[in-house]
Amino acid sequence: MNLNIAVLPGDGIGPEIIEEAKKVVLAVAKKYNHHINFTFGLVGATAIDETGNPFPEKTFELCKSSDAVLFGAIGDPKYDNDPKAKIRPEQGLLAMRKKLGLYANVRPVTTFKSLVGKSPIRQDLVQDVDIMVIRELTGGIYFGEKGRSEDGNSAFDTNYYTRAEVDRIVRLACEYAMKRSKKLTVVDKANVLETSRLWRETAQEIVKEYPGLTTDYMFVDNAAMQLIQAPGKFDVMVTENMFGDILTDEASVITGSLGLLPSASIGTSTSVFEPIHGSYPQATGKNIANPLGTILSAAMMFEYAFNLKEEAKSIELAVEKSLEDNFTTEDLNTTSPKSTSEVGDWIVEYIEEG
Ligand code: IPM
Ligand code: MG
Repeated sequence: MNLNIAVLPGDGIGPEIIEEAKKVVLAVAKKYNHHINFTFGLVGATAIDETGNPFPEKTFELCKSSDAVLFGAIGDPKYDNDPKAKIRPEQGLLAMRKKLGLYANVRPVTTFKSLVGKSPIRQDLVQDVDIMVIRELTGGIYFGEKGRSEDGNSAFDTNYYTRAEVDRIVRLACEYAMKRSKKLTVVDKANVLETSRLWRETAQEIVKEYPGLTTDYMFVDNAAMQLIQAPGKFDVMVTENMFGDILTDEASVITGSLGLLPSASIGTSTSVFEPIHGSYPQATGKNIANPLGTILSAAMMFEYAFNLKEEAKSIELAVEKSLEDNFTTEDLNTTSPKSTSEVGDWIVEYIEEG
C-alpha cells in the first residue's frame, strides 16, 4: 500500500519519541512492502514560535489530505507558568481534534505480563487487565463557553453536550463492547450534573439496540476508586471528555508506566494516533523518554487507519519482547536504563529479524 502519513512531533520529548516511531513504521513497511510518505507539520508551542498559531492552517490541510496522522506531544512550561498567556500550545491539540472531527479517543489499557511486578498496584489485581476506555473528545467542558469577569475575580467553564454527541460516542462504545466481552461501563456524575443525566438517559436508550450487551452505570468518583481497587472487572468504558482524560492517566498506572499507553482519535476525517502522555519537558533532548506509547500508537495506526492487522501485531510483539528482555527506558528500568533511541533501534531490529 501507499501510505501518506502526516507527522506532527510537537513539543518537549515529542520529536524524540516520534523519531523512534517513524523508524519502526519504516521497518514494518519494508517488511510488508508498503510505501511510506512522511510529511512534517508544525503544532503546539513550536508552531506558536514559528507562526503565532498552535495549529496552523497548513498543518490542518496536511492532516486532511493524509491517510493518518502520527502525533507526538504538546505543551511547554513557559505557558504552564503563565496563566495569562492568550495563545497556548494545548489550543493546537484541541483545534486539531475539533477541526478533524475526532470525537472518539480510544485508549486501550492492557497489562504486559513482564511488567505486572512493576505496577504500584498488587500483582494479583493487575494481571490480565484489558480495558478499552472510549473518551469523548470534541465536546464537554473542554469546548463549552468559558470566560472571566471584567475584574478578573470570577471565571467559568461550561460543560455542554448535545444528545447527538452522546449518541455517537455511546454507539461506538457499544460496537467495541460487542466485539469484545459485551460489557460496557458508562461513567458519569448523574447524581449531580445535568449533562451526565443526558448521557445516562441517552445511553440507556442506545444499549437496548445491542442484545446481549451488559451495561453498568457508574459515578466517576466510584469509577476512579474501582479502577485501582479492582481493575480486572472493567472491559469497555465510555465517558465524557474530562472524566476520560483523568481516568486514563489513572489507568496508566496499572500498566506500570504512563509512557506505555497509546491512543487513537477517530472521527469524521483523518484519524490521529498519539501517546496519552504529555510533552515531559524535564526530559527534552536527554534521550531518556519512553518511546513505547508512540510506537504502540503507530501499531494502532496500522490496525485502525489502514486495517493492516499483521503489521500492527508485529510491532506489538516487538514491544512485548523488549519489555520481557527489560530493554527499557528509565521509567521502567532503574538499574540499567536504555535510551529512547536504543529502545527504538532494538524494536526495529526485532521486526527486521522476526
Ligand atoms: C491528553 C492530554 C490533553 C488533554 C492536554 C495536553 C490538552 O492531557 O491528551 O490526555 O487534556 O486532552
Ligand atoms: Mg490527559
